[in-house]
Amino acid sequence: MYNEIDLDIIDINSEPPAEEPGRQYYFMAKCRRYVKAESERLGRPLTAAVVTFGCQMNARDSEKLAGILEEIGYVRTDTEDADLVIYNTCTVRENANNKVYGRLGGLQHRKKKNPHMRIALCGCMMQEPSVVEKIRESYRFVDLIFGTHNIYKFAELLDAAGDSDSMVTDIWEEGRQIVEELPSDRKYSFKSGVNIMYGCNNFCSYCIVPYVRGRERSREPDDIIREIRRLAADGVVEIMLLGQNVNSYGKNLKDPLSFAALLEKIEQIEGIGRIRFMTSHPKDLSDELIGVMQRSEKICRHLHLPLQSGSSRILKKMNRRYDKAHYLALVDKLRAAMPDLALTTDIIVGFPGETEEDFMETMDVVRKARFDSAFTFLYSKRTGTPAAVMEEQIPQEIAKERFDRLLREVQKIAAEKSAALTGLTLPVLAEQINEQDQSLLTGRLGNNSVVHFPGTADMIGKIWDVELAECRGFYYLGRRKDGLS
Ligand code: SAH
Ligand code: SF4
Ligand code: F3S
Repeated sequence: MYNEIDLDIIDINSEPPAEEPGRQYYFMAKCRRYVKAESERLGRPLTAAVVTFGCQMNARDSEKLAGILEEIGYVRTDTEDADLVIYNTCTVRENANNKVYGRLGGLQHRKKKNPHMRIALCGCMMQEPSVVEKIRESYRFVDLIFGTHNIYKFAELLDAAGDSDSMVTDIWEEGRQIVEELPSDRKYSFKSGVNIMYGCNNFCSYCIVPYVRGRERSREPDDIIREIRRLAADGVVEIMLLGQNVNSYGKNLKDPLSFAALLEKIEQIEGIGRIRFMTSHPKDLSDELIGVMQRSEKICRHLHLPLQSGSSRILKKMNRRYDKAHYLALVDKLRAAMPDLALTTDIIVGFPGETEEDFMETMDVVRKARFDSAFTFLYSKRTGTPAAVMEEQIPQEIAKERFDRLLREVQKIAAEKSAALTGLTLPVLAEQINEQDQSLLTGRLGNNSVVHFPGTADMIGKIWDVELAECRGFYYLGRRKDGLS
């Protein structure tokens, strides 16, 4: 969302301005001229595909890339048979990287058929020098590589790649500035992610994110509020505030402001019906935040609170800065304040040195906290992180066997928890037509669970009261209260 400006009045024969975001508007105008000329030459529009790997941060970044592409005049397509394909990559676990290398092979094939095709790679994986080296050596057909700190420069980089026969690479080690007021093309018209901060300072010992996303930087509250107001005016009813550790929002601002205080400001914005946020780190989840959530009418009763391990010994080696007792006490406090709160988590199995006893501690927390759902991961060694060089890396078979036991327990509890809501009538945000049955809509409860219920396309983007008539494991079949059944 930004104040639309008329790119056609920009004089692209003059020097590009030095200031942002004006400089990017200049390059968008220049790229637009190129796209228009190419489409005329080919007698068809130029197409572009943005492929996203990884988390919500990347999903939001992709909306920004798509917004720039739209301004430039590319027509969006979901197939990779496009004139421009960009992969926004993730490197949190090894298999994320392998997926990208696998799909790049397919792109090479397509580029042979369409030599004008351009291929760009960006995102977290590109912040790793070894990856860039590998691509330079083995994937020479790639035209453009950039990282996580300079996505706002996409138009300028595309222009540079257009003028060059060789691969253009622009990777920054740190975020130099937060550039506001650039376009974005939202995936959903009625809900949107909103970055409130970038980067991470926590350095959990297994995690590569601080190395590829840089140090923690909070956006100014006024900029966040302005963005959300504009989203609301544009039909958005649900926002998801994004940060690697939202609980430490605002600490590095000129005028520090807590995350809880930011939420209170956002609550005032008219038109926004639901507020979500992600991710909360247990070490600094404050009583102030619990109070604000409890009083709020808009903040969803859902908290994603990654546990990672239930063993205090392993948590220490992970550098998480809380222990088992602290985590369980926090869960008790949250449940006492909000009995209807849905609690979800992330758990890593097979961290170096994890014994059967450590694993049983994790199972114990899972049974006590009774998570509504949990993402479970096999530990993946990330070169450059402290855990990668720890002794006692766990053999794959042992980790896998623990992982399967954990998953069974997590799923059993999750099914019990969702069954408990059967029969209640709760608000559901209608998100899309059901993929299997066109007479149904698919939507989400405040706790993030999926509900399928009878409805029509004109109901999408609004919140409806739906009776959860039947629970089918991880989703519900719902009934509308106003006659439709
Ligand atoms: N900032 C968030 C997490 C971002 S990464 C937080 O602190 O909670 C999302 C999840 O990926 C993490 O919660 C963790 O469970 C998992 N993860 C991160 N690094 C991993 C690794 N090396 N191996 C396996 N899982 C990992
Ligand atoms: Fe990674 Fe820890 Fe930062 Fe989350 S808080 S992104 S797990 S280092
Ligand atoms: Fe992956 Fe980067 Fe997100 S490494 S999980 S896309 S911050």
